[in-house]
Amino acid sequence: MDISLLGIPLEAGNSVPGTLMGPAALRTAGIAAMLTGLGHEVRDYGDVVPAAAPANLSGQWPTCRNPGEIKAWTEAIHDRGLDVLRAGGVPIFMGGDHALSMGTVAAVSRHCHETGRDLAVLWLDAHADFNTPDTTPSGNMHGMPLAFLTGEPSLAGLLAGRDLVTLAPEAIHIFGLRSIDLDERMRLDEHGIDCIDMRAIDETGVSNLLRELLAKLDPERTHLHVSLDVDFIDPSLAPAVGTTVPGGATYREAHLIMEMLHDSGLVGSVDIVELNPFLDERGKSARLMAELAASLFGRTVLDRRPRPTA
Ligand code: ARG
Ligand code: MN
Ligand code: MN
Ligand code: MN
Repeated sequence: MDISLLGIPLEAGNSVPGTLMGPAALRTAGIAAMLTGLGHEVRDYGDVVPAAAPANLSGQWPTCRNPGEIKAWTEAIHDRGLDVLRAGGVPIFMGGDHALSMGTVAAVSRHCHETGRDLAVLWLDAHADFNTPDTTPSGNMHGMPLAFLTGEPSLAGLLAGRDLVTLAPEAIHIFGLRSIDLDERMRLDEHGIDCIDMRAIDETGVSNLLRELLAKLDPERTHLHVSLDVDFIDPSLAPAVGTTVPGGATYREAHLIMEMLHDSGLVGSVDIVELNPFLDERGKSARLMAELAASLFGRTVLDRRPRPTA
């Protein structure tokens, strides 16, 4: 398979500096070599650079932190992401904080629209990221990407001059939820978004829940975008994130999810977000995220055998 890596060193969407080093840490952890070792063709497109110096837009978005930067980044990520998608292959967007998904998923949504695919989004995250400028408790725009992508009018100006192909609420599946704000909770209910929280995972198990979710997707038509937030994983395993929440996915749950996603054959694009190497312990979170990517692209225990020599 052709895999494209695109670095997105964004940290303007959160308040803890360090996520700009995320792409470098994933590269240092050996993500490209791991994927190449599985027989994939890997091309690294380097990092996104926002095109224009960001304007100061705090008049337009007074409750938001760094709205001008986020707008400049969203537009640059969308445009670069679309180029990478159109070049073919499965992109791994390496962040960078979760505000980057405003750009990546907007690009994926447009690409699906152009190629006649149905987009489904699996949001592996402790959080719902469904706040708006009116409901945000923190001002951090990494808490808002799903609101933007479903067409929240107060955020529409973040992607100027490009038509956002908005996501239907039914296309979104939040998985791993264990931290939610009160107004955010009300908005999720209003929009009828599928939320699988940790209570459900504890009672039913990740494999049953994920199998059920995947079975609803049409294998002929679906492009599944996986947005993997480091805080989905338990902080004991992946401490390198500014928004840790106790009680996250275990090592085995996380790898099983990746393996099942690989087996589904549906995954068309991936975000790995919120990795903050400044908070890591001897690279262990970066290494885990790279290894999860390997599981997502076909690494298994028993299938190890010599690669065919062309
Ligand atoms: N709900 C909180 C907020 O809006 C936390 C969001 C955390 N998001 C993330 N991508 N880590 O501020
Ligand atoms: Mn494509
Ligand atoms: Mn998130
Ligand atoms: Mn999160």
